[in-house]
Amino acid sequence: MKLVITGNPGVGKHTNAKIVAKKLDAEIIDINKIAISEDAIAEQTDHGAEVNIKKLTGLLSRKMKKDADYVIVGHLAPYVLKPEGIGMVAVLRRSPYDLEKTLEQRGYSRQKINENVSSEILGISLYDSIETFGKRKVAEFDTTGKKPGQTADDIVATLEKKKRRHSGSVDWLAVISDEDVQRFFNY
Ligand SMILES: Nc1ncnc2c1ncn2[C@@H]1O[C@H](COP(=O)(O)OP(=O)(O)OP(=O)(O)O)[C@@H](O)[C@H]1O
Ligand SMILES: [Mg+2]
Repeated sequence: MKLVITGNPGVGKHTNAKIVAKKLDAEIIDINKIAISEDAIAEQTDHGAEVNIKKLTGLLSRKMKKDADYVIVGHLAPYVLKPEGIGMVAVLRRSPYDLEKTLEQRGYSRQKINENVSSEILGISLYDSIETFGKRKVAEFDTTGKKPGQTADDIVATLEKKKRRHSGSVDWLAVISDEDVQRFFNY
């Protein structure tokens, strides 16, 4: 089974991927790591590294064996993977306020924090995952206030069909104030 774990930077992908991969006895494929180690970076910009999407897509499809189990991690997943052979796509979500704290702790600039939080508010990762992989494969997990182990358990239970796959119920615009929407989108 090939499981994808995606979502905005800072939502908890890598933390959960490690636990899930152990439980499933599957190999982790880290999209960012492969982009760096196999030189699929197109250029360095003010916003960080610009990835060569075409090259990375090819690298990943060659790397994965058809019948092997993988946990494929990265926010670029919807842009560099083909839907064929992917069993489930877990899109992790995180409250804008918690995400802001995590990104502040990482020392991101205000602009980069606001870009990432705005993208989470709009649900871009979820939208793009549904577009690439189809709604049936996509399941959304809200990590807000949860321990990593709990989210990892939910992902495995959903993969094993003990829990229903569901997406589209997270709505951050309904829980944040208008002032904060203005603040986050001001970049
Ligand atoms: N339920 C949860 N699941 C996973 N991580 C969590 C959870 N709650 C809090 N965290 C914390 O969130 C932080 C960010 O997690 P992590 O580095 O895994 O994010 P990421 O999505 O892999 O980010 P990036 O895309 O930048 O690599 C960590 O400090 C982690 O401990
Ligand atoms: Mg990470």
